[in-house]
Amino acid sequence: MPRARAHVFIATSVDGFIARDDGGIDWLLRLHARVPEGEDCGYAAFIAGVQAIVMGRRSFEQALAFDPWPYALPVVVMARRGVAVPDALQGRVSVSADAPQGLLERLGAEGVARVYLDGGQLVQAFLREGLVDELTVTTVPVLLGRGRSLFGELPADVDLELLDSRAWPFGFVQNRWRVTGPSGESGASR
Ligand SMILES: NC(=O)c1ccc[n+]([C@@H]2O[C@H](COP(=O)([O-])OP(=O)(O)OC[C@H]3O[C@@H](n4cnc5c(N)ncnc54)[C@H](OP(=O)(O)O)[C@@H]3O)[C@@H](O)[C@H]2O)c1
Repeated sequence: MPRARAHVFIATSVDGFIARDDGGIDWLLRLHARVPEGEDCGYAAFIAGVQAIVMGRRSFEQALAFDPWPYALPVVVMARRGVAVPDALQGRVSVSADAPQGLLERLGAEGVARVYLDGGQLVQAFLREGLVDELTVTTVPVLLGRGRSLFGELPADVDLELLDSRAWPFGFVQNRWRVTGPSGESGASR
């Protein structure tokens, strides 16, 4: 049984941050207010193509503030220490201490073809292991100067093939890339 494929769908500031240092996404919510009603920037189409969400513990803790809970799909929270799952989410949210490869293999064996991979540290961990298959990154028009980065250090360059690129009049720019694999280039300056 093949492993589940991992697709990322995430928003960043122009300087590449997904959240402030304290996890805040107030800037994203503020800019999201510019998005006209009925425009979801491809979210519904993306979600229709995945069967589960794999989320970092820190993203989960932030998502708990959303009321109502926004996800209809099963959510697996990756955490290496305990996470409290509220009673209302029992049966919809599970916690896993598996390593990325093992988790995708288990989900693949359970019939999950594609997961939505969410959380900066998680995206970085999966990228380092060559386990990200597709990336959709929506850049929103703000510079934050500091915060939590989407991308980080890699053991080798990762080549991407651009599948789609869109820009909206409210200033959001979305690129969708397929990960074509490590280039084999480890970079003298790395
Ligand atoms: N801009 C956006 O579209 C967007 C999207 C999603 C999230 N966010 C924001 O981003 C923030 C969360 O992202 P984040 O990068 O800080 O954290 P994250 O990736 O959501 O979570 C990191 C945590 O995941 C757990 N984990 C389990 N296995 C791991 C592994 N192999 N590698 C790395 N971590 C692993 C660790 O928890 P333990 O310490 O328990 O082991 C780690 O601390 C939140 O503020 C959220 O609101 C923004």
